[in-house]
Amino acid sequence: MERIPTGIKGLDDMLEGGVPKRRHVALYGGPGTGKTSFGFEFLLRGALRGEPGLYLTLEEGPEDIIENMKSQFSGLADKIDESIKEESLIVERPKDYTLESLAEALENRILENNVERAVIDSSTMVKAMFPSEAEYRKSIVEFFNLLKTLDCTSFVIVEAETSRREEIRFEIEHYVLDGVINLYSLDRGDTRVRALEIFKMRGTNHSRDLVPYKVLPEGIKVYVGEKVF
Ligand SMILES: Nc1ncnc2c1ncn2[C@@H]1O[C@H](COP(=O)(O)OP(=O)(O)O)[C@@H](O)[C@H]1O
Ligand SMILES: [Mg+2]
Repeated sequence: MERIPTGIKGLDDMLEGGVPKRRHVALYGGPGTGKTSFGFEFLLRGALRGEPGLYLTLEEGPEDIIENMKSQFSGLADKIDESIKEESLIVERPKDYTLESLAEALENRILENNVERAVIDSSTMVKAMFPSEAEYRKSIVEFFNLLKTLDCTSFVIVEAETSRREEIRFEIEHYVLDGVINLYSLDRGDTRVRALEIFKMRGTNHSRDLVPYKVLPEGIKVYVGEKVF
């Protein structure tokens, strides 16, 4: 089976080398857990090996995302600039927040820019546009079925109301998507520790450990084999 290495240090080791190709994975976490950083680095690492990526943002403006990521990943700022310039990393806001519009933007970029990786930030924003949870569920299932027909591998960001592991609840995305990576910000007395777990990943074996990670200037580092204290 073909895999797409995320390029994120440590994460691929938890996934037997990478995310199975053409699968769609939820990045689920509370505010500030690093969802945007994970998604962005996934695309940047792809861009650097000749696999163009599209970051579809529904929340922050594209310029803000790029600025934030250049500051977050200061050691990669030149590479970010280059990838943006040559359009191997594209950050854009769809014209409206409908699933049709997201699908259209994605299809266009696959055709025009040979996009192979995508991030949707976030499905929670799309949900907010629906009058009811039931209608959202119906549409999102159709949308993910459509995603399956597209030749790309994606991360779909899902906002959690909590970053505490004990308090997470299952969202529709947990059921419908091929994989789920949960990001936590864990309370440890007077500090917080970031940790993640691969909750599910269809098509591959994977680690089930809760492992610490850090967002560093040169990229995210997942400390596989280390315990969270
Ligand atoms: N320049 C920076 N240097 C170090 N840490 C940063 C920097 N900018 C943001 N952060 C940290 O990263 C977090 C935001 O990461 P982000 O990937 O945007 O999270 P999310 O998308 O889950 O909200 C901030 O809350 C902050 O802790
Ligand atoms: Mg974000």
